[in-house]
Amino acid sequence: MENIIKDIDIISGEEDTNSDFKVTAEENTGKAKRLYIESYGCQMNFSDSEIVASIMKETGFDTTSDFNNADVILLNTCSIRDKAERTVRKRLSQFNQVKKANPELKIGVLGCMAERLKEKLLEEEKLVDLVVGPDAYRDLPSLVSLAEDGQKGINTFLSREETYADISPVRLNSNGVSALISIMRGCDNMCSFCVVPFTRGRERSRDPHSITKEAKELFDQGYREVTLLGQNVDSYKWSSEENNKARLNKKENEVSQVVYFSDLLEMVANVDPKLRVRFSTSHPKDITDKVLETMKQYENICNYIHLPVQSGNSRVLEMMNRTYDREWYLDRIKKIREILGENCGISSDMIAGFCSETEEEHQDTLSIMDIVKFDFSYMFYYSERPGTLAEKKYKDDIPLAVKNVGSRRSLTSKVPFHL
Ligand code: SAH
Ligand code: SF4
Ligand code: F3S
Repeated sequence: MENIIKDIDIISGEEDTNSDFKVTAEENTGKAKRLYIESYGCQMNFSDSEIVASIMKETGFDTTSDFNNADVILLNTCSIRDKAERTVRKRLSQFNQVKKANPELKIGVLGCMAERLKEKLLEEEKLVDLVVGPDAYRDLPSLVSLAEDGQKGINTFLSREETYADISPVRLNSNGVSALISIMRGCDNMCSFCVVPFTRGRERSRDPHSITKEAKELFDQGYREVTLLGQNVDSYKWSSEENNKARLNKKENEVSQVVYFSDLLEMVANVDPKLRVRFSTSHPKDITDKVLETMKQYENICNYIHLPVQSGNSRVLEMMNRTYDREWYLDRIKKIREILGENCGISSDMIAGFCSETEEEHQDTLSIMDIVKFDFSYMFYYSERPGTLAEKKYKDDIPLAVKNVGSRRSLTSKVPFHL
C-alpha cells in the first residue's frame, strides 16, 4: 500500500513541483568569485534570489549555472509543504559530495526553511555554513566572510520594515521580456494551515515610487511585462510615514496620504501603455471593486486574476481562517464577470483533505470548479506544518490515500499541478 501511495504522489505531479527549481545563469563580469543559487517555492522566492544576486555582486561574486564551479552555493528554500522541505534536504545531501571534493566550498540555506528551522538547521545539516532568513539578505556579505573564516553564519531576524526597496535586482533566468517586481513582503493573515506568516513575518508595503522607478527602468531595458508580487497584493497599503500594515492601520489619521493597491496599479500602468502589468496573489477577502475598475480602465493591465479559493465549503473555510465563505467567494467571481466580462482569466489554489473535511465538503470544492470554470488551478493535498494554528488546534485526520485520491480526480479534469 505504501508503495502505491508513493506512486500516486508521483502521478499527482508533486514530485515535479518540488524538483521545479530555478538556477542562476552564467554571468561573467570579471569578479573574483562565483555564486550558484538554486531557488525553490513561490515567485517571491525567485524574486528574492535576484535581490540576493545583486547584494552578492556588490561583494565580488559573479553567478554561475554550474555548482561545480561555485565558491558559494545558496539554496533559497520553501517550507509550504513537508515535501518541499524534504526535497531540499535531499539536495543538501547531494551537495555533501561536492563539498567533500572541494572543502573550501561554502553552502547556505536561505528563505523560508532557514527562517522556520533557524539554528536547528545548522545542527541537523552538518554541511551547512550559512542560514539566512528572508529579511536578512543585506547581512549576507558579512555572513559569507564569517563562513570563509571557518565559522557558521546565521541571521534569521524578521524585520518590520525591510522591503529591499533600494536594491536593483539582478535579473536571473530572464527572457528579457517579463520580470517580477516585489511590491510587499510578509503576510498578516493567519490562514490556519499556512506557515508563511511565521517564515515571512509581518506585512510591509514597498515605496510605490521605487516600484514605478523599477518598472520604468525595466521598460527602458526592453522589458514589456511586469508581475507585481506579494502574498496578498490587494492588502498593499503604504504611506511615506509608515510602511508596516498593522502600524499604519493604527495611525491612519495621522499620515499624509495612503497609497492602496488600486492606486499602485494605476501608477505602474501609467509607466507606459506598452508595458503589460500583471499581479499575484489576490485574496478573496481583499480584492476590491476599485481594483477591478482600474483593471478595466487600463488596457495594459492584463485581465487575469489568481484568486485562491482553498475550499468550496464554508465550514472548512472557517476552520482554515480564510475569513470569507463560499457565498462571498462566488460574489467576488460575479463582480469580476460583471466588471471585466467573461474573458477575464481566473485561476485558483485548492487544498484537499484539510482537517475533518468530509467527502461532501470536498464535493463542494469540486462544485466550485464547475461553477467558476477556472482557467487552471494549483491543487494540493493538506500537509500539516509545525507551529501553524491548524497543527495546534486540529487533528490531521484524513488519510493520505484519501487526500491523494482527491488530487487524482482533479488531475483527470486536466488541472495542472504546480506550486
Ligand atoms: N498568499 C497566497 C498563497 C501562498 S501559498 C494566498 O493566500 O492565496 C500557495 C498555496 O499553497 C496556498 O494558496 C495553498 O493552497 C497552498 N498551501 C499553503 N499551505 C499549505 C499546506 N499546509 N498544505 C497544503 N497546501 C498548502
Ligand atoms: Fe498563507 Fe493565508 Fe497569508 Fe496566503 S494569505 S500566505 S495562505 S496566511
Ligand atoms: Fe514557500 Fe516561503 Fe513562498 S514557504 S511558497 S517560499 S513564501
